[in-house]
Amino acid sequence: MTVSMAQLSPPTVDVHESFLAAMAEFQAEGRGYLEDRSMIGSEIRTYGRSWSSPEVFTEYVRWLRAQALESSTRPNGWVPSTTLWWVDGVHFLGRIAIRHWLNAHLRRLGGHIGYDVRPSARRLGHATAMLHAALPVAHELGIEQALITCDEDNVASRKVIERNGGVFENKIDNKLRFWTPALQPDDPANPRSAGQERHA
Ligand SMILES: CC(C)(COP(=O)(O)OP(=O)(O)OC[C@H]1O[C@@H](n2cnc3c(N)ncnc32)[C@H](O)[C@@H]1OP(=O)(O)O)[C@@H](O)C(=O)NCCC(=O)NCCS
Repeated sequence: MTVSMAQLSPPTVDVHESFLAAMAEFQAEGRGYLEDRSMIGSEIRTYGRSWSSPEVFTEYVRWLRAQALESSTRPNGWVPSTTLWWVDGVHFLGRIAIRHWLNAHLRRLGGHIGYDVRPSARRLGHATAMLHAALPVAHELGIEQALITCDEDNVASRKVIERNGGVFENKIDNKLRFWTPALQPDDPANPRSAGQERHA
């Protein structure tokens, strides 16, 4: 699955089969257990036993899309979030979630954006490209500077953030905190982008 063919998509039932295979890969590396406080861990715990059923998967996709609505029912303390999947045709490669605003916990440790690439698709540039593609979406949601955090020993995630312009602020507990401009230099909406200059 090459990076050039992959793109962001709202959660969709079209990738059901490869999504299940990807979740099995995440579970094989220990995701979904009680101590996994991530969104993907929570979703595996809630839906993992039943989302092989097309009906349950359809319900899961609907629920996930609804998390972007301010009116949605969310676990206590969760803010609205837009989840996008990184797909190549019917192949699910990863997911990225943009929290619409920061509550006290997110401002300290969680940040605006979280992402995962399925283990079999790692080290191909997908996370770097996926974050790059998601930043304009964050900007559309009103985020000027996205707070993105990673564990201090997560070399891969740190590179992904820095490659997307993330500027290190500090470390809290074991989390490195970076502020990343949501409007990237090559974003057509950026007045300084080459595309805009051509139209000037
Ligand atoms: C972190 C993660 C998203 C990176 O995804 P990815 O698609 O492999 O990332 P990329 O291919 O864009 O790689 C970015 C850089 O990190 C490097 N990298 C990737 N995995 C690495 C690893 N395990 N150890 C060291 N460097 C690594 C890549 O080589 C690349 O650097 P390079 O261009 O100098 O070679 C993925 O490993 C993952 O899903 N991990 C589990 C969940 C997680 O940690 N999410 C982030 C939470 S903050």
